[in-house]
Amino acid sequence: MNSFIPWVGGKRILRKRIIEEFPSEFDRYIEVFGGAGWVLFGKDKHAPFEVFNDIDGDLINLYRCIKYHAPALKEELKYIIHSREIFKSYISQLHAEGLTDIQSAARYYIIIRGSFGADRHSFATNVTNLSGKVDYLSEIQERLRRVVIEHSDFEKLIKIYDRPGALFYLDPPYYAAEKYYNSNFSISDHERLFNVLTGIKGKFVLSYNADDVILELYKDFNIIPVTRFNQLSHVSNNTEYKEVIIKNF
Ligand SMILES: C[S@@+](CC[C@H](N)C(=O)[O-])C[C@H]1O[C@@H](n2cnc3c(N)ncnc32)[C@H](O)[C@@H]1O
Repeated sequence: MNSFIPWVGGKRILRKRIIEEFPSEFDRYIEVFGGAGWVLFGKDKHAPFEVFNDIDGDLINLYRCIKYHAPALKEELKYIIHSREIFKSYISQLHAEGLTDIQSAARYYIIIRGSFGADRHSFATNVTNLSGKVDYLSEIQERLRRVVIEHSDFEKLIKIYDRPGALFYLDPPYYAAEKYYNSNFSISDHERLFNVLTGIKGKFVLSYNADDVILELYKDFNIIPVTRFNQLSHVSNNTEYKEVIIKNF
């Protein structure tokens, strides 16, 4: 199935290729840098036990409201008109005191859906059929029924869920493209990720841009080159973009 939102760096196009690189057997699946969850939603079920995580608290609140309160969230979204004024006021209200989790989730959903390239800042004029998209949240609720949703920094999460039968799929902010996320991911975070992955008992599949720093850091692992067309909103769609899939098996 498809995700319910677009997301900066979302793996809509590459997800089939990424899933092909998964091992044949694993009993727990952990998506560490969840975003729009294109890889999670790429299969009805990856493993008997699945975990979805992101450090973006507004995003995780949206996931939790879909999982536990989809009808109320859909009701909240029912009367929203896509307009520049509402979009701007939702951005300013997002962390206002007194909003319920469902009201915040509805606002974040509209901010993501209503922004250009899902950048959550610039108003998009080409948004159509929002109500059809809101209906789709019920299918997402069903898919999330048995998925554990976490809101944690990657290092803590990996340490909690690491086991010999675990598969971690990781799609961190790309090297030198960290500014597109609400998370201040830094060079030391890329190194921290490398250090934690080096010692795990489970398997990992990691997506990255093919930057020399990353290729050098992971040179002792299995590095598979992949190519896609660029989706970042500030560049032309026709630019070829070199990525890698890195695995410890
Ligand atoms: C490239 S996006 C993931 C896209 C996702 N694979 C998809 O298909 O939509 C990277 C995600 O990592 C999250 N993130 C950034 N820093 C993090 C951290 N320290 N721990 C966990 N998640 C983090 C961001 O909020 C962002 O959603």
